[in-house]
Amino acid sequence: MSRPGDQGGLRALVTGAAGQLGVEVVARWRLEEQGAVVAADHRQLPVDDAQAVTAVLEQTRPHVVIHCAALTDVDRCQREPELARAVNAVGTANVARAAAATGAHLVCVSTDYVFDGRATRPYTEADPPNPISVYGQTKLAGERACPPEATIVRTSWLSGIGPSGFVPAILRRAHDTGSLPVVVDQRASPTYTADLARAIVELARDRRSGCFHVTNAGQASRYELAREVLAVAGGDPDRVRPITTAELDPPRPAPRPAYSVLDNSAFAAAGYRPLPDWRDALVRLLARLAPR
Ligand SMILES: NC(=O)c1ccc[n+]([C@@H]2O[C@H](COP(=O)([O-])OP(=O)(O)OC[C@H]3O[C@@H](n4cnc5c(N)ncnc54)[C@H](OP(=O)(O)O)[C@@H]3O)[C@@H](O)[C@H]2O)c1
Repeated sequence: MSRPGDQGGLRALVTGAAGQLGVEVVARWRLEEQGAVVAADHRQLPVDDAQAVTAVLEQTRPHVVIHCAALTDVDRCQREPELARAVNAVGTANVARAAAATGAHLVCVSTDYVFDGRATRPYTEADPPNPISVYGQTKLAGERACPPEATIVRTSWLSGIGPSGFVPAILRRAHDTGSLPVVVDQRASPTYTADLARAIVELARDRRSGCFHVTNAGQASRYELAREVLAVAGGDPDRVRPITTAELDPPRPAPRPAYSVLDNSAFAAAGYRPLPDWRDALVRLLARLAPR
């Protein structure tokens, strides 16, 4: 585990530090706070182990805990609900308890999948959650385990330089031949982990309480996003074939919200710079992912 420096600034501990968001949060904190960050990956800090969480926080004494660890494979959560609960619900409660006990401010990352997707306008923080998958239910339970003074950041459709996001997955198939079926009836705001990390670091540094929806601006269906990835990467966007979720073969175990665009106006009203449009973010992400 990397150690915090002695510079006297704010010290952060990042859980899930090897995940696609965690790596960007660690990098951003290092850049802005001169290295004072504990980057704790799954092996170093298994959040479902309450004793390990307490021990690591007591040993490292961060001012802020940025909780990025989660079981994010939505279909795996559906197949293994006990594991999903242990990581996303109990794990978050463990982190919240240890942060409170050591006086650290908690920033907890959550998801658009706490909503059922039946809305016809972007969801605000005041809209009642109603998750339709085990992933969404366990993430919501995690939110509810956080104290009122915590920061909760809900976001959507993350992609970054790691292999697990939707954008890298489509990019890997950019120069295949044949059609690429992608669902057209799921809609949200694709979000670049590096842009989100900037916002998270700002909220964390301010130890800002409350729930904030933070995504790149604009919205797209998965079909539109896949077309844009191919267009920017020099592939043929017309290879992307629109299908419905019901046509997925094999069907996915977990239901997804059809519409989970998040209204970011509370974040902007709190004085933070909104994230750029998702198309702008995509160009910057693909430039980093392009083979050199
Ligand atoms: N991905 C999205 O589209 C999306 C959308 C909305 C919100 N979010 C939220 O954003 C946050 C970051 O997600 P991400 O996209 O960066 O996911 P990710 O790439 O899957 O990273 C999650 C990290 O958590 C780790 N982890 C899993 N179980 C753990 C445990 N028991 N203890 C400690 N660490 C554990 C994983 O390690 P291993 O891989 O080694 O298990 C992984 O490094 C999560 O809270 C997620 O719910 C994600």
